[in-house]
Amino acid sequence: MKTVNYDAIIKSRLSEKRYIHSLNVAKEAVRLAKKYGADEEKAYIAGILHDICKEDSPETQLQIIEKYGITVDEFTLQSTKLYHAKAGAAYVLGELGIEDEDIINAILYHTTARKNMSILETIIYLADYIGEDRNYNGVDEMRTETEKSVLDGMIYALKFTMQDLAGRELVIHPDTFDAYNQYILEKRGS
Ligand SMILES: [Fe+2]
Ligand SMILES: [Fe+2]
Repeated sequence: MKTVNYDAIIKSRLSEKRYIHSLNVAKEAVRLAKKYGADEEKAYIAGILHDICKEDSPETQLQIIEKYGITVDEFTLQSTKLYHAKAGAAYVLGELGIEDEDIINAILYHTTARKNMSILETIIYLADYIGEDRNYNGVDEMRTETEKSVLDGMIYALKFTMQDLAGRELVIHPDTFDAYNQYILEKRGS
């Protein structure tokens, strides 16, 4: 994989706060990749780039999604917060020329999760919750669960997100339910 200064690209596209968040997710993703056996370079790249379109307007995000032919379903269309993940993957593919499927999927599914996630996808999903800048109510338990196993981390993160979304009467994407059900069944069977 060619070495590109993604750090500078992210710095130029995001606020200071979100730039720091991106660096923290990349750092945490590399740590988790080491711990759980994923590709560390891919973890860094997906981590630093995951929110690349987060500060674009929903209109711009939709344009990017359309420009690069990423398909979005009705549930995604109903929740603007999900746009940045789909736009980010489209941008990384179309503008930065990153064709690694695993990196693209890690960015695509970093907000919803999905069934049958790769180890890299789970690592980016989890790193987004436990990077150094995170301080929400529940982050300590989230960190503890992620240290136990990817499975425990995913169950805690999905539970946390679904409760939060339902509490605010927001749409819960079916991919999130699929991920939750899969991990719960996996835990039961283990
Ligand atoms: Fe994000
Ligand atoms: Fe993020």
